[in-house]
Amino acid sequence: MSIQLINADALEYLPTLEAGSVNLIFADPPYNLSGQGFLTCRGGKPVTCNKGAWDQIEDLHAFNLAWIRECVRVLADDGTLWISGTLHNHPSIGMAIKELGLWIINDLIWYKPNATPLLSANRLAPATEVIWVASKTKRYYFDYKMAKKLNGGKQMRNLWVLPAEKHRTPHPAEKPESLLTRILLIASREGDLVLDPFMGSGTTGVAAKRLRRRFIGVEIDPDYYAIASQRIRGAGEADLPEYAQGEQARLW
Ligand SMILES: C[S@@+](CC[C@H](N)C(=O)[O-])C[C@H]1O[C@@H](n2cnc3c(N)ncnc32)[C@H](O)[C@@H]1O
Repeated sequence: MSIQLINADALEYLPTLEAGSVNLIFADPPYNLSGQGFLTCRGGKPVTCNKGAWDQIEDLHAFNLAWIRECVRVLADDGTLWISGTLHNHPSIGMAIKELGLWIINDLIWYKPNATPLLSANRLAPATEVIWVASKTKRYYFDYKMAKKLNGGKQMRNLWVLPAEKHRTPHPAEKPESLLTRILLIASREGDLVLDPFMGSGTTGVAAKRLRRRFIGVEIDPDYYAIASQRIRGAGEADLPEYAQGEQARLW
């Protein structure tokens, strides 16, 4: 299966892709939570949240509109776009996908039962992320049977309880492999083209390679690009969780 990893700015690279050529887009963009005075917990102590310069964007909504517009252009008519966020960026993402005329399929809530505890006593401890699921038309690919199967035979709901996993790389925002495996199984077929415009440590690429999807991953930071390249190179089908192995994954 073709795996293309690109060390570039997604805003410059996406316009080079053919219109309508991508079946599934998973985007985990900068949340813009660094440098805003938000606190997180490290080694049991409160520290200012700072994920890096990539997570500080002056005009967040203009940025979101620009890259989502390009995603809409490259997405196939029956493809879906999945975008993760927290309270820091998801109002803008929600507005952008409405402004760009997308059909909102779901607001999926990912609940992390083992989320980092909150050290201040002035709010509820954040333990969720929102993943917007949207499409260009109402005829989009969605494997309902697969979702049901992954949920032990019961209809899958829009609340996913998946523990945050121990990071495999030094990237500060690595997503769990279980989350990406589930999304790819539900929203793409073997051989489909999956795009991640903010690849980070390469989690989407790992899931795509294991599930035999084609993959394009774009990452602006050369160090993260190198981390993702090495990680995806080392990924193999044998590492798939049991539920996604063998004939079932091929048939679904
Ligand atoms: C939230 S992280 C993605 C983490 C990823 N899902 C993972 O599992 O590792 C966002 C990534 O987007 C990258 N990035 C930020 N702006 C970008 C841009 N304009 N083009 C491409 N990558 C960008 C950052 O360097 C960062 O690695």
